[in-house]
Amino acid sequence: MKDELKAVEREAIREIKSAKDKDALEALRVKYLGRKGVLTELFKKMGEVPPAEKAEVGKLVNSVKASVAGALDDGLKGSSGAEEALAEKIDVTLPGRFSMPGKIHPITKTIGEISDIFISLGFRVVEGPEIETEHYNFEALNIPLEHPSRDAFDTFYVKSRSGKYLLRSHTSPVQARFMEKNKPPFSIIVPGKVYRPDATDASHSFMFHQIEGLVVGEDIKFSELKGALTIFAKQMFGPKTKMRLRPSFFPFTEPSAEVDISCSVCGGEGQKCSVCGGKGWLEILGAGMVNPKVFQKVGYDPEKVTGFAFGMGVERIAMLKYGINDIRLFYENDSRFLKQF
Ligand code: PHE
Repeated sequence: MKDELKAVEREAIREIKSAKDKDALEALRVKYLGRKGVLTELFKKMGEVPPAEKAEVGKLVNSVKASVAGALDDGLKGSSGAEEALAEKIDVTLPGRFSMPGKIHPITKTIGEISDIFISLGFRVVEGPEIETEHYNFEALNIPLEHPSRDAFDTFYVKSRSGKYLLRSHTSPVQARFMEKNKPPFSIIVPGKVYRPDATDASHSFMFHQIEGLVVGEDIKFSELKGALTIFAKQMFGPKTKMRLRPSFFPFTEPSAEVDISCSVCGGEGQKCSVCGGKGWLEILGAGMVNPKVFQKVGYDPEKVTGFAFGMGVERIAMLKYGINDIRLFYENDSRFLKQF
């Protein structure tokens, strides 16, 4: 019996090795391991084996079965790729499937570029929450109760049992949050999302990004604000870029200014320029010297420290820098737009 088993194993493996294809291998599986296969029949003869040898022969039967099954599996795995391809009707001449490599979103990229410029000037990047309290979004920034931006139609309020929350309408609340926890001198920028219930069109979105800047210390002057912003404008839009400040108003800065750069498209020369409308100037941000009332609210002594702040819209900067004429393109996720950056 033992010799018979070993002979069967040898013969089976020889046949498996010379099998030409899947079908031949399948036929051999039936021949050896099938219900009426050679090994199954041999197993039936176990009854004739003397009791003393039964255990040993049983083990042998199992090991022969396993080695034949293993050889069959190996044979199937090894059957040539072309043969399998034919069997599955794969057309190897079809072009492969390409996956598009991921890219950094133009908004993220612009935040990175703006941050790099300010980091090189000694600023550090901090962040704050997008869900805010009325205190930080308004009161801490000296925005009075009757200010239109506090109207329910001008800010997204969040219903909550634990208090009155809103989606921050600017990054300025992080000014107060940071000052409460830190001592001057410091220079920070704060990138992040902000929300306003504006109807969406080519230049408005209910969500967009801002970068806030805040510098506080002893004897910080308006000229330093102008210097920092001039360096930023030239590095961001090119060395020929000119900058101008126009008087403006923000409750949290005094004096306040609106900052324009010379139009990068027409250089201020084009009467019919579609980007600046022939004005030659483009508004890029709001800025000013920190209002002493804001310092008082966070426990700073306005007699001892001064500072400046600015806030810019990231989408606007990206649109001017890359010549994009519709803010909605940033949020539509159209790869034909995104892959250009
Ligand atoms: N927070 C202002 C806005 O969203 C911008 C700003 C920031 C102005 C800091 C002055 C100083 O319009």
